[in-house]
Amino acid sequence: MTLPQTTQSEVSPDIIDLALGHPGPELLPLELLRDAAARRLGQGDRSFLQYGYEQGDIRFRTRLARFLSSRYAAEVGPEELFVSAGASQALDLICSLFTRPGDRVFVEEPSYFLALRIFADHGLRVAGLPTDRHGLVPEALAERLRRSRPAMLYTVPAHQNPTGATLSEARRAQVLSLCREHGVLLVADEVYHLLSFSGASPPPLGASALGGGVLSLGSFSKILAPGLRLGWVQGPPELLGRLAGCGFLDSGGGLAPFSSALAESLLEQGTQEAHLDRLRRTYAARSRAMAASIEKELGGAVQTEPPLGGFFFWVRLKGAADADKLLPAARAGGVTFVPGSRFSTCGAQEDCLRLSFSYYDEERIAEGVARLAAAVPAARPR
Ligand SMILES: Cc1ncc(COP(=O)(O)O)c(C=O)c1O
Repeated sequence: MTLPQTTQSEVSPDIIDLALGHPGPELLPLELLRDAAARRLGQGDRSFLQYGYEQGDIRFRTRLARFLSSRYAAEVGPEELFVSAGASQALDLICSLFTRPGDRVFVEEPSYFLALRIFADHGLRVAGLPTDRHGLVPEALAERLRRSRPAMLYTVPAHQNPTGATLSEARRAQVLSLCREHGVLLVADEVYHLLSFSGASPPPLGASALGGGVLSLGSFSKILAPGLRLGWVQGPPELLGRLAGCGFLDSGGGLAPFSSALAESLLEQGTQEAHLDRLRRTYAARSRAMAASIEKELGGAVQTEPPLGGFFFWVRLKGAADADKLLPAARAGGVTFVPGSRFSTCGAQEDCLRLSFSYYDEERIAEGVARLAAAVPAARPR
């Protein structure tokens, strides 16, 4: 009998699935959450079982604000935070409230492919902007803004999905100032910001949110557990007020009272801090292992830049090889990845692929890259 599927992606033991941008199962902190739940459920307070306050529980937002203030090295106040059911849900809500079908959205080329699906659900027209190893190119944004004004700019400024690139501090200032000058809403998807290996990345765009025109998305999916469906939006109170005041929340109340109560308990105990540091060390080691295997197994055949955080390597195949053609051969050899074309706004990036190092340990990563290397000749033009 085949059991019904219980998670978004079922992983076959025969395949090393380097497409998976998920934490490995051993990184999902069952014991920490069990203790947090026991503590919170034992307090005799039933408020988190009630319809929640639309902006999110104030005790949770206060703890989250403290946590972010220390991690961002910039003051974050609870009034600048709105509790979401994850970054995807927040992005969907922002599209509902700040755009109309037919509007244009500027994104990076390549961009997070599942955000592109959310934009499609809202009937938005996506325009890709050039990027390089330092992220979005501000001159290209300036040039495009002279020709048209989008409803928003969507960017993943730290450890981008898929390229791993991080927008430099100087470029952040330029992008921010261009959006403000042209009155364009800047939606910064900063879900990987806290996963810098060294801890030293440029200040998040969320830190500039109070100046206006910026909504920054964060998520416990990347620092605790995706199943909690818990995230936040950082922004100026007038924009957050529009999110909190929408009909959806008027009917259903705040988005995640139960999971935010659990996360609050972890933040209170300091265990979220410790868990995040463990994740950063683990992902840094996995990223080093992937870099070493790529160098050893694929050295001359690809070009890549190891990321400084997050989950992904963006690998360019040399010699006009095609990642879509590589995929079936790789699968037959026991490894998968996401072909670059999936992230493109214009049918490009076919010579690229995204490899994730978040799910497997160093040994499996090395084996996965070796399997991939064995399949690469199949992708070369004949
Ligand atoms: C850039 C980016 N945004 C959002 C998400 C999804 O976040 P959440 O689980 O909070 O909806 C992901 C997950 O892969 C991502 O890579």
